Amino acid sequence: MAVDFSSLKKVAEGKTKVIYENPKDHKTVYMVFKDDITAGDGVKHDVISGKALVDWKTNKDIFELLNRKNVRTHYVCSPQEKVSIVKKLDRKINLEVVSRRVAAGSILKWGKMQEGTRFDPVITQFHYKDDPLHDPMLDDKYIDYIIKAKDATEYAEMIKMNQEIFVHLEAAFAQFDVQLIDMKLEYGIIEGKVYLIDEITGGSFRLWPYAKKNPNLNQPNVLKELNPSGRLDKDTYRMGEQIGNVLTKFEEIAKITAKFANL
Ligand SMILES: Nc1ncnc2c1ncn2[C@@H]1O[C@H](COP(=O)(O)OP(=O)(O)OP(=O)(O)O)[C@@H](O)[C@H]1O
Ligand SMILES: [Mg+2]
Repeated sequence: MAVDFSSLKKVAEGKTKVIYENPKDHKTVYMVFKDDITAGDGVKHDVISGKALVDWKTNKDIFELLNRKNVRTHYVCSPQEKVSIVKKLDRKINLEVVSRRVAAGSILKWGKMQEGTRFDPVITQFHYKDDPLHDPMLDDKYIDYIIKAKDATEYAEMIKMNQEIFVHLEAAFAQFDVQLIDMKLEYGIIEGKVYLIDEITGGSFRLWPYAKKNPNLNQPNVLKELNPSGRLDKDTYRMGEQIGNVLTKFEEIAKITAKFANL
């Protein structure tokens, strides 16, 4: 039977999801996807009819894969379309944890980084979550200091989890001739442990198709091996693509992640 959300207490509402209490189980909450899409820390905003359904599918397939790989995630199940049940957060960690395999996007503005530079191992960057401050990056030395001097072991754990998650998803997308370029994840504390929370959808990462069969991805710069103009992710929206085309790209992602069930 469909859940009647009109009678449930709203715990939180963000840009892309609404969280409702679950009266049947106080250790979990309902996560309901919205049709909204935003960019530039919420400055650009549109509603794309059908996006919630596509995001819900992608998120479900990705989290189910990660749960099978024994990653500690908040995801429990999806009782109906656009709705998932997740473990309720005890404490949100106010960071966006970015991992990068290939240089693209904002990293190109720093120094002389060339687009397509390959990072091995994947690099991790912590951004303080604050839209008006444009999510400033935390300095690596500061992260090292708080891990060592302040015993903030959550940071060390997030770096490890973030790299593992990246490698799992990179391998999964590689099966379909697509490179996971970079990704932004969020973490929280549930029953004293660090958990992957929130969502992983077309807005969470960059995804570029391979430019050819069997590309050579083991070289310092992999730009020629990939096809950035065929990108499937939210950069299409950031770059001003028509809304209908953005949705088509997100649907392509969902078609790929639907096949993750066999991985
Ligand atoms: N497991 C969870 N339990 C409770 N709340 C959660 C959980 N996972 C995510 N949330 C919360 O869901 C809310 C809505 O998410 P949404 O992504 O729409 O917010 P947002 O506007 O993008 O803000 P944010 O930058 O915090 O993600 C956020 O406040 C987020 O912290
Ligand atoms: Mg969000």
